Amino acid sequence: MKVLVTGGAGYIGSITAKALEQAGHTPVILDSLLSGPLAFVRDRIFYEGDIADRSLVRRIVEEHPDIDATIHMAARIIVPESVEKPYEYYRDNVAKSLELFDELTALGLNRVLFSSSASLYATKEGFEVVEDDPLDPPSPYARTKHMMEQVLTDLAAASDLRAVILRYFNPIGSDPDLESGIYVKEPSHVLGQLVMAARGQKDAFTITGVDHPTRDGTGVRDYVHVWDLAQAHVRAVERFDDVLASTGTTSTIINVGTGEGVTVRELVASFERVFGSAVPIEEGPPRPGDAVGAYANVDRAAELMGWRADLSVDDAIASALAWADKRHEVLGYE
Ligand SMILES: NC(=O)c1ccc[n+]([C@@H]2O[C@H](COP(=O)([O-])OP(=O)(O)OC[C@H]3O[C@@H](n4cnc5c(N)ncnc54)[C@H](O)[C@@H]3O)[C@@H](O)[C@H]2O)c1
Repeated sequence: MKVLVTGGAGYIGSITAKALEQAGHTPVILDSLLSGPLAFVRDRIFYEGDIADRSLVRRIVEEHPDIDATIHMAARIIVPESVEKPYEYYRDNVAKSLELFDELTALGLNRVLFSSSASLYATKEGFEVVEDDPLDPPSPYARTKHMMEQVLTDLAAASDLRAVILRYFNPIGSDPDLESGIYVKEPSHVLGQLVMAARGQKDAFTITGVDHPTRDGTGVRDYVHVWDLAQAHVRAVERFDDVLASTGTTSTIINVGTGEGVTVRELVASFERVFGSAVPIEEGPPRPGDAVGAYANVDRAAELMGWRADLSVDDAIASALAWADKRHEVLGYE
């Protein structure tokens, strides 16, 4: 199959492009390089430009009339920035996505896979969430994702567009061949911070929030290896029509996580085991807007796509550490 991957120069997009290739498919990348590095595109078919550039989308489809599906990953993704710059987030993630979907539908490219997020879920007792659970998106970023879920559901009800919405939990780790991984200079997420503390790039790792109502007081997340997440996209593309035939709907939402909740303290313990020595730790108050967390009920992913996560948190930590040693060669910076 040939698959248009918007945001294919990014962290998850580049690794998904690789997984598609390994499964015998051909990714066609559309990315503005707003944040993703050109080095991650490698030798793939690549169009540099904006998702809302309708003439560019038309040219891509003219040159690749055999595109079977679109994976729409292109977005702005930094939560605190979305609080400071809501206009840019609603414009790029909502208004531009709408233009893209309208153009794709006009061109008859009706299969759309959309990258959504577990950050939409309201806090739930026990922390295990199913797709129908209540939502309470806490930031402008999360609200753009919620809006696009609603937009896709409405478009799919009214037109030939069909949508499979994947709610990613917490992707960590790197491409298995270390060709891509986290590329931001100072990652704000927990594993990125741990890697920096372990490598002496910061004095200590700070656990933000130790009084949450969890088994050890720290936040719960569902850390899914990005390579497993990439495989979920391969399955979703291959089984797109079957997935919607089994639900009997024109759009559907699927959690993509491991099904295991891991606290920050548990992640630190795994990290120290894989890294082989202790990391300096400090404790601090929760950051504004930090959620207690959630982990995925993954029954739907298994039932509809035949997909389950295969790799462990330790595998992902090892791959994040290996990428931290290697990324200078790919990116030109530590
Ligand atoms: N990383 C996570 O923890 C996470 C969790 C849940 C959901 N997601 C979603 O997964 C998707 C991919 O995330 P990522 O971590 O790989 O992010 P990323 O920033 O590495 O990738 C996004 C890519 O989109 C491109 N882009 C942004 N706006 C564009 C536009 N208007 N036109 C063309 N290209 C544009 C960027 O240049 C970048 O390469 C996003 O939609 C994100 O919201 C990510």
